[in-house]
Amino acid sequence: MPVDTRRDVRTRSGPGRRRRQVLPAVVLGGALALTGCSSGAPSALDPAGSGAGRVANLWWLLFWLSMAVFAEVMAVLAWALLVRRRPGTRVRHGQPLRFVTVAGAGIPLVILVTVYAVGLRDLAALGDDPGPRAPTIEVTGHKWWWEVRVQGVDGATANELHIPVGEKVRVRLRAADVLHSFWVPQLMPKTDLIAGEVRETWLHADRAGSYRGQCAEYCGTQHAHMAFLVVAEPRKDFDAWVARLAAPAPAPRTDAQRRGQEAFVQGTCAGCHAIRGTGAGGRIGPDLSDVGSRWSIGAGAVPNDGGHLGGWIANSQTVKPGNYMPPQPVDAGRLPDLIAYLQSLK
Ligand code: CUA
Repeated sequence: MPVDTRRDVRTRSGPGRRRRQVLPAVVLGGALALTGCSSGAPSALDPAGSGAGRVANLWWLLFWLSMAVFAEVMAVLAWALLVRRRPGTRVRHGQPLRFVTVAGAGIPLVILVTVYAVGLRDLAALGDDPGPRAPTIEVTGHKWWWEVRVQGVDGATANELHIPVGEKVRVRLRAADVLHSFWVPQLMPKTDLIAGEVRETWLHADRAGSYRGQCAEYCGTQHAHMAFLVVAEPRKDFDAWVARLAAPAPAPRTDAQRRGQEAFVQGTCAGCHAIRGTGAGGRIGPDLSDVGSRWSIGAGAVPNDGGHLGGWIANSQTVKPGNYMPPQPVDAGRLPDLIAYLQSLK
């Protein structure tokens, strides 16, 4: 029998073949999405403190309850389809009202009341005041960075705050412009920052480490580059951090650093940035007194190294478009000095 080869070819490259290509693509896409979830991004299901621990427990309670309800519904459905529809089966209606009352109203009511009660308990615990002896850290959200101060201490830093391990720390939140949201997935659920209001939350870490935080409320072009780091460390290291915030920035030790400081203080930098103990006292941008020790430049935009720092100073708009720092007319000969000085601030 002659075979219509044209038709054969059309079938292989037609919709049937496309369907066969869709399945692997979906599987591959799903696998990639899942690996994205485990690429070291902080997860609220990997809690490192009592606040996030409550949220994780609530999440698992809801998950297992949902799974139990799903399994129960599927079992009843399977039973109805497989057993009750067998030909010749005599249907006994029993007591349908009792079934509907128990399965349709009673069980859901018990589940909902339980979840509501647990939710209320957790809400109250998360809203608890950490007590009068807890250190207070003041955080202000700006487009697009975090100003960090410790109550009673003069100095400021940016995009990084330290807490003592095992102690509750009060965090007082303000917004300088628009809505932001303070979120450290492994330590505490989100708290919104609202302009004109002072909100409070607390942080508590069970174990030492660095925990990434992120602005969790869309606040403009660079919302994604509004990250911060919470460093949980032994009490004596925390005390040392607070002491460093109160002290002047380290003095320049080399000639290059001295020239860099001069360029900073006498140039345009000092109009927006402060460095404690120098003539630079700008309050528009982040305080740079400890910029050399920070984990990133631009609130998570790029790593903090000499190359990125130079690129940032020359034209930060290419790194984080839309941020409020205009390109700087820094003499190419002075840029290495400026970098050397800023990197020495730690
Ligand atoms: Cu600040 Cu999003």
